[in-house]
Amino acid sequence: MKRKVLSTILAVSMVAAMVVGCGGGGSATTEAPAADAEAPAADASGDAAQAEAPAPVAADKEGGRVAVAMPTQSSERWIKDGGNMKEKLEAMGYEVDLQYAEDDPQAQVSQIENMIAAGADCLVIAAVDSGALTTVEAQAKTAGIPIIAYDRLLMDTDAVSYYASFDNEGVGTAIGEYIKTAKDLDAAKEAGESYTIEFFMGSPDDNNAVLLHKGVMSVLEKYLKDGKLVCKSGRTSFEDTCILRWSQETAQQNCENYLTGFYADEDLDIACTAFDGFAYGVKAALQGAGYTAENWPLVTGQDAELMACKNILDGTQTASIFKDTGLLADKCVTMVEAVMKGAEPEINDTETYNNNVVVVPSYLCTPVAVDKDNLVEVVVDSGYYQAADLGL
Ligand code: BGC
Repeated sequence: MKRKVLSTILAVSMVAAMVVGCGGGGSATTEAPAADAEAPAADASGDAAQAEAPAPVAADKEGGRVAVAMPTQSSERWIKDGGNMKEKLEAMGYEVDLQYAEDDPQAQVSQIENMIAAGADCLVIAAVDSGALTTVEAQAKTAGIPIIAYDRLLMDTDAVSYYASFDNEGVGTAIGEYIKTAKDLDAAKEAGESYTIEFFMGSPDDNNAVLLHKGVMSVLEKYLKDGKLVCKSGRTSFEDTCILRWSQETAQQNCENYLTGFYADEDLDIACTAFDGFAYGVKAALQGAGYTAENWPLVTGQDAELMACKNILDGTQTASIFKDTGLLADKCVTMVEAVMKGAEPEINDTETYNNNVVVVPSYLCTPVAVDKDNLVEVVVDSGYYQAADLGL
């Protein structure tokens, strides 16, 4: 059904060379996106089936080997996450096996198989595509190795003990609220004005991306409905705006195609992007299309990466969502301690993160929107970045 709808939309409204939706490649196509776009990660609501047996808890142990599987080094945030986890765990006396899968699901499966074979006592996993990991997660469970889901929920498994993340729907809500406030959409309603907007959403194999889109739409949908926001491509659904593996290149290409296909006579006012990497791709597309400070759109992002912060200061990105990866690592480390030593980790959510098999006990950190007005206070005064890192 979705495939049919998407194909129809493509046929009638997209320029021929447009790369759209969740396609990850750079080649031009008007075909429906890959099959995985048909079945985005499940929403974290609904009933969980009963797990067969509880996820393992390692015996009370001193030290031990913690394996940390991270998705990619292609974006700054994951490099920081991996570094933080390694440092904090080593400081507590654990041996750490940190590996990055460079966004290749099968490479991550092999890495985790090797981690199990090498005698890991606990696995911390930030999945590339959690759908690819269910078999290896079952192997870990059989071997008595507890698993903690890091930032991205591990779907369709009962082998996961805890989940450390941010309020992922809250990230989307913060992006939507930022746009609403910055453009004063309620005043626009009274003044009869409108703004053009395009969406660049996250990877369909990442539950966070589904929740983020839900949060964005919880704020912006009514303005799209009443015409104060106008999406000229017509692409507002998650299926139509998701970008496989969070690819910066695809975001750039989608933006180039939107600008060529729909914004020849009118400027794009808002690029609602779900990730700083997308904001960089959008920036390149805007520059290529001749946008200047005079007509630069409002551009959002996520992660408050160093480059994004510099772009916020020079005006080529408007806002981002700061997620303190140091705090996330702290929370995750308490979960490692809990499964290794039978301690009680701090949990603040036992309802939201249903992975289709179990509701995973979670600690959710709070995301914070940043723009040029509060950037220094949030990311420099807190010590997250040094002023000199930002050229200040
Ligand atoms: C994370 C985001 C990140 C994105 C792309 C998501 O799962 O929650 O912080 O921007 O992946 O790496």
